Amino acid sequence: MLAHGHPRLSNQSAVNEVTHALQSNLKAKIQGSLPGGIALVAACVALSGCARDTRDAARDSTTSSVAGAIADLTISKGPIQRVLTDEDFRQRLHLATVEVEDPVYLKRKRFSGYWLSDIFDLAGIQFDRSNIWMFSALDGYQARIAVTDVINSKAKPFVAVRDLDAPGGWERIKQGKEWLSPAPFYLVWQTQTPVPPNIKLPWPYQMAAIQIRDVDEAQQKLFPKADSRNDTVTRGFETFRKNCLMCHSLNLEGGVLGPELNVPKNILEYRETKMLKEFIANPSSFRAKSKMPAFGSSGQSLDDVLSYLAWIGQHKVPAD
Ligand code: HEC
Repeated sequence: MLAHGHPRLSNQSAVNEVTHALQSNLKAKIQGSLPGGIALVAACVALSGCARDTRDAARDSTTSSVAGAIADLTISKGPIQRVLTDEDFRQRLHLATVEVEDPVYLKRKRFSGYWLSDIFDLAGIQFDRSNIWMFSALDGYQARIAVTDVINSKAKPFVAVRDLDAPGGWERIKQGKEWLSPAPFYLVWQTQTPVPPNIKLPWPYQMAAIQIRDVDEAQQKLFPKADSRNDTVTRGFETFRKNCLMCHSLNLEGGVLGPELNVPKNILEYRETKMLKEFIANPSSFRAKSKMPAFGSSGQSLDDVLSYLAWIGQHKVPAD
């Protein structure tokens, strides 16, 4: 199983995301970057690159051609939004190389790209232990990690733009029947020491945007402080956060690859518990080659997730 499964839902969702990126471009530009018109062109190059990738996939190739230009990367924190363009990457950042034990490809891989710390420096965006990083992929997948976890992991995040094992392209990632290219950006981690088991490093591919948020603010809708929390609910929340939140939102907070599960109706208001447990344990036993990975039915954790889902149903936010 992949470290995360997040197949592209459809071309349309990729188009929506890129359109969003285009709008971001118009809003703000990093000091000294290209004028808006040229930034637009760069994002269009990225878009046509995506379309070409899909056609390549149809021909079942295992590597993809790569557009010469580096796509735009949007970085934001609150009202501040920066878009790094091809020119920013090439002229203001140092291109580096890493070799990592890759949990998505399940082997050692070499990439060229940029250290995330350098990218944040160039963008002029700062963070501290009260923040989380959120990484959004073209298909609505949304990975997040607390800055404290990054620090405790001792791992160094790296934004890969080229796969050095597939010169001129990317080795594709097999996902069900599909072969996906991780372009435009693939977040990988260089580790010195083993990562503590309670920390899950995200390896999002097809990444297009990074957001820095406050831990409490990002968590508030998912785990509002309330007297009725108990151990089961707390464990269930942690399990959901690590395994589900990248694809599903609750109270509209979380990934948008899968459906929202709390508003206006909590999933348990229209699905029967027994069926739901079977579905979460093994979605493909309901819908062949489901985009949702099997969670399995082992031990307590599935019941914990169900308890948390029931609990969050008592803490809805307006669904507008
Ligand atoms: C890689 C993305 C992904 C992850 C991770 C994921 N899901 Fe899903 N989930 C989906 C998608 C996409 C669907 C839509 C149904 C389908 O394609 O089978 C779905 C459907 C569902 C449904 C069914 C909704 C319905 O009634 O049709 C439930 C419930 C659900 N997911 C819960 C979970 C839980 C709980 C977890 C974590 C243990 C989880 N999902 C992890 C993508 C994901």
